[in-house]
Amino acid sequence: MLAIEEFLELARSRRTVRGFLKKEVPRGYIEKILEAARWAPSGGNSQPWEFVVVTDAEMRQRIVDLYVKQMQDKREMEMAVRGTTVTRGEPTGFRNAPVFILVLGDARVNDAFPIRTNLDKGEQHFITGLASATLMIHLAAASMGLGSQWVSDSASPYMATILKSWLGIPQHLKVYDLVPVGYPVKQPLAPPRRTVEEITHWEHYAPDRVRGDADINNFLMEQTRLGNWGRQKQPE
Ligand SMILES: Cc1cc2nc3c(=O)[nH]c(=O)nc-3n(C[C@H](O)[C@H](O)[C@H](O)COP(=O)(O)O)c2cc1C
Repeated sequence: MLAIEEFLELARSRRTVRGFLKKEVPRGYIEKILEAARWAPSGGNSQPWEFVVVTDAEMRQRIVDLYVKQMQDKREMEMAVRGTTVTRGEPTGFRNAPVFILVLGDARVNDAFPIRTNLDKGEQHFITGLASATLMIHLAAASMGLGSQWVSDSASPYMATILKSWLGIPQHLKVYDLVPVGYPVKQPLAPPRRTVEEITHWEHYAPDRVRGDADINNFLMEQTRLGNWGRQKQPE
């Protein structure tokens, strides 16, 4: 059994990696990652996930090119609304990752839920299951010294539709995320986290700690991508 300190070390040191070495990852490592993924929890044990593992260099390059293409309207929207964009340069540090794992979901297994649950929150449970499996992928990769990234734009209608067509994925499946996996160029700095005291309310919600709009704005600028983590670092 993993001791809590070892687990915390893994939880703290896992980073979203955005730059990869051109170095092969043994297939056995990927199989271990997928073994971890299948043990993720899911509503009603519905296990909505399936994975397409892409190692072919030509296909990976096509996927990178597709990703770059879909950045254009994303940037334009940021510029139009905010007058700036935090995404600068080529956002394709994952181009060298030797393995891309595409996380897919099949919403038909939502029938595992009771009817009311499905009506109330079938979509929420479906996404939570996929997110849980994806987190398992990231943690398993990190435990073996590998880096991984969430490329969530893969779920955009444009990118998902084209990916499905290229990879022969049935249209009824959802593309949830693309996870490049490989050896990191470097261990990225840890983005800030709110402290346990800040996020925890014992017994009842502490009324003096309700965050106002100014607190939220401050938080967004100090700790998140929107504010480049308080302008200390440049998240991609
Ligand atoms: C739902 C979700 C979507 C994300 N999408 C992206 C993404 O498209 N590209 C990316 O580089 N990182 C993405 N991330 C990674 C976050 O930026 C990252 O988890 C956060 O900045 C904290 O950094 P850390 O993972 O290194 O602790 C995503 C993370 C989550 C959970």
